[in-house]
Amino acid sequence: MRDYSNPDLLITEDFETQEIGWQSPSNIAIIKYWGKHGVQLPRNPSISFTLSAAHTRTEVTYHPKSTADKIELEFYFEGKQNPAFSKKIEAFLTSILDIFPFLSQLKLVVHSSNSFPHSAGIASSASAMSALSLCLCSMEQELFKTLSDRNEFLEKASYISRLGSGSACRSVYPTMAAWGATSHLADTSDLYAVECGDQIHDVFKTYHDDILFISKKEKSVSSRAGHALMEGNPYAAPRYQQANDRFGLLMTALKTGDIAAFGELAEQEALTLHALMMTSNPAYILMTPNSMEAIARVQNFRKTTDIPLYFTLDAGPNLHLLYPHSVKEPVAKFIKEQLVELCEDGGFLEDAVGEGAFRYL
Ligand code: PMV
Repeated sequence: MRDYSNPDLLITEDFETQEIGWQSPSNIAIIKYWGKHGVQLPRNPSISFTLSAAHTRTEVTYHPKSTADKIELEFYFEGKQNPAFSKKIEAFLTSILDIFPFLSQLKLVVHSSNSFPHSAGIASSASAMSALSLCLCSMEQELFKTLSDRNEFLEKASYISRLGSGSACRSVYPTMAAWGATSHLADTSDLYAVECGDQIHDVFKTYHDDILFISKKEKSVSSRAGHALMEGNPYAAPRYQQANDRFGLLMTALKTGDIAAFGELAEQEALTLHALMMTSNPAYILMTPNSMEAIARVQNFRKTTDIPLYFTLDAGPNLHLLYPHSVKEPVAKFIKEQLVELCEDGGFLEDAVGEGAFRYL
C-alpha cells in the first residue's frame, strides 16, 4: 500500500515567496466511476478521455509565516474571494498535512478560474482538484527537490487529486487515463490513475467531445451524495461487476479502433449511470426533457446518416457528443441545426481529447 505521509517535508531554510500555476483539464469518463468506499476508493474501475477546452487554471503563491500551526489560506475563485470554496479547500489541505506537512509553515494565496460554468455536470471538481494538486506537488519539488521524476510526480499528483475528488485523479495525464484496479489493464490501482493513451488506436487520440449545456443550473443532487446512495442501491453489486466487464470490452474497442463498439459502450454506460440514480433511495433524475430529446436526435442522426456520433453523460443533464475528427463537419452542421436549440442560451463547448495538464508559472 502506497503511503505518502512524510514528516520530513518540513522547511528548515529561508526561501523566497514563489508563485506556481497549473492548467488542468476536465475529463469525461467512458466507463463511469459511481460508488466509493474508504478514503475515496472506487468500487469499480473507470476510464476517461482527458479534455482540453474545459479546464481550470490555478495559481498558488506561498509566503513564509512565523507560526507553523494550521493552514492559512486566502482563496479567490474567478477573481473574487469565495468563502464556500475556501472552506472546502482548507479542509482538503488540512486533511493532507501528513503528506505535505510544510503547508502549515506557509501562508497560501490561491487564485482559481474555470473556462466553463461550474456545477453544471461538467467535472469542474476534476479540473480544479487536479490543478491544485499539481501546484502542491510543484511546491514540494521547488522546496525539497523530491519529485524530479515525471512519472513519480504525476502519480503523486494523481493520488492527491483523488483525495480531493475521485475522478480528478484521471485529469493529470494526457489523452486517456484509467483509475481502479482491474485485470483488464496492467498496473492499475485504486489509489491513483494510470496513463493509457499509448494503448489506444490513433483514431481515439483526436476524438471530439463537444459538451451541450442543456442546463447550467447547479445539480439538485451532488456527486458526493450520489456516490453515498450507491451503498443502499440493490443493483450496486452487479453494477460493479458490469463496469469491470465493460472495461475489458472497451479496452478491446480502444485498441482496435472499433468506433461502433466504443460508442455503444459509451451510451450504455451513460444510461446505466442515470439508471443508478433513478434506482437509488431516494430516487432522483438529473436529465431533463431536453436531455432526452437530444439523445433521441443523436440516435436518429446516427441511424439515418451512418455517421458515428454517440453521446455520453456525466452526473448531470448535459450531453457529451463523441465522434472522430473525420466527421467534424457534418456533426458541426447537425449541432447547429438540431441541437443548439435544446441548449440553455444556445450554449455548447467544442472540446476534444487533449494533451493534459501543464505548468504555466
Ligand atoms: O469525482 P466525483 O466524485 O465528482 O464523481 C464523478 C463521477 C462521474 O463523473 C459521474 C463519473 C466519472 O467517472 O467521472
